[in-house]
Amino acid sequence: MPGRQRRGRIDYRSGWRGHEAASAYEEDLRREESEAGWLGETERRLLADVVDRRFDGREIRYLDFACGTGRIIAFLEERVSSATGIDASPEMLELARAKLTKAKLICGDVTVDSSVLPGRYDLVTAFRFFLNAGETLRSEVLRVLHGALADDGIFVFNLHSNSWSLRSLSVLFRRHVLGQTWWNQRSFLQVRRELRDHGFQVIELHGYNFLTGKGVREVGALRPAARVGWDALRGRLPDRYGPDWGDEFSRRAHRALAPGLSILDVGSGRLPTVSVGRRPAGCRYVGLDISRAELQRAPGGSYDALVVADVIEPLSALVEGFDLVLSFQVLEHVKPLDQAMENLRVYLRPGGRLVAQLSGTFSLFGLANQLIPQPAATWLLRRLLRRDPETVFPAHYHHCWYSALERMLEPWTAAEIVPYWMGAGYLGFSRPLQAGYLVYEEWVRLADYRNLAAYYVVDAMR
Ligand SMILES: C[S@@+](CC[C@H](N)C(=O)[O-])C[C@H]1O[C@@H](n2cnc3c(N)ncnc32)[C@H](O)[C@@H]1O
Repeated sequence: MPGRQRRGRIDYRSGWRGHEAASAYEEDLRREESEAGWLGETERRLLADVVDRRFDGREIRYLDFACGTGRIIAFLEERVSSATGIDASPEMLELARAKLTKAKLICGDVTVDSSVLPGRYDLVTAFRFFLNAGETLRSEVLRVLHGALADDGIFVFNLHSNSWSLRSLSVLFRRHVLGQTWWNQRSFLQVRRELRDHGFQVIELHGYNFLTGKGVREVGALRPAARVGWDALRGRLPDRYGPDWGDEFSRRAHRALAPGLSILDVGSGRLPTVSVGRRPAGCRYVGLDISRAELQRAPGGSYDALVVADVIEPLSALVEGFDLVLSFQVLEHVKPLDQAMENLRVYLRPGGRLVAQLSGTFSLFGLANQLIPQPAATWLLRRLLRRDPETVFPAHYHHCWYSALERMLEPWTAAEIVPYWMGAGYLGFSRPLQAGYLVYEEWVRLADYRNLAAYYVVDAMR
């Protein structure tokens, strides 16, 4: 998983060591550039402007402190006479090296040994450093960098979360409600005081980026969401409603089939996920269901063996017995889901694959199911959806959301969770309600609130 969450909890000096941390940071940067490319672009534009105005063609001996994977130094190296990057992490520097043509890179920690910095510099930058470095580290670095600046030298740095910005509302929520203590923020006043204490004089201050990347996505999603609602009012559903519901699952499940596989169909009951005629030659097809009666209602020859059991029960006889586990719209009925997922993992042989579809806890139907009392739910199912309540099994929706699934899939070798936004079918009885729902669904989809998806398809390898 990306290092974003772990970084805040670990030591800021050493937490960037290792290939995993370095590539996670690079991955974060890549994601940010694709989601909010203008943020990096704004930083580069501001930086270029300061350098061009302040130096006006003069010689620039440049140092990028905590240069990391080279984001800033790679941008500036052609504008300066000489460029040096310093960082405490050899792995971050390894990634930086590939982006640079002439800059010199030094691996070292200036707070431990200031002699690693060989000269004095006209321009020093430090991006994405001061916000998350602790107080002592900040102070030590400011002291060393002040000493490394030439007379009239300029120090440019950024602070990527201001306590007086709109973003701070989300940071306060994350820190105090969600308990995510690694979210830091600092105010300009705090920073100015610190700079003065270390002998700097503030000559320019530029604010940028009023909304978070997420905020930008949220605002940007409003118009297309409203358009989807308008189309739905006129009877046109979004294109993703074109294919049959369950297509994503079927495509993946059928692609995973191969002759001779041992397949476990979890919760398959009377309707095996892959019908007999579509199975490649030589497959062994086992049905697992909590109800023997349901399994026995399946067409003759559907199963080579039956397992009547709750999927949360660990069954040693099944361990490493299968190449493929399939499960369609079953796991939302299971609690604790974590235990069920772990069982499915160990029932697979190493390299075996799970393809499952389940409903989301925060889907419209999921929420209604959890909130509406049973008699009212039965009435609604009969009257509005014309469904026989007998065919609807009780569901728990336990941990059926994106980040919970992501956590459960950590022990797997590889995993993909595909949010499946197709919850409007339940509101087919009322066009205005369906249109209203689609505005919501389109908005959360575009704003990337994956935890709110109607369904998920999980495709994972043991
Ligand atoms: C968030 S990254 C920033 C990288 C880069 N400046 C950017 O804007 O993309 C923070 C960097 O600070 C480095 N670092 C932390 N403590 C340091 C220290 N005492 N001396 C040198 N580098 C340090 C880490 O190794 C890491 O590469």
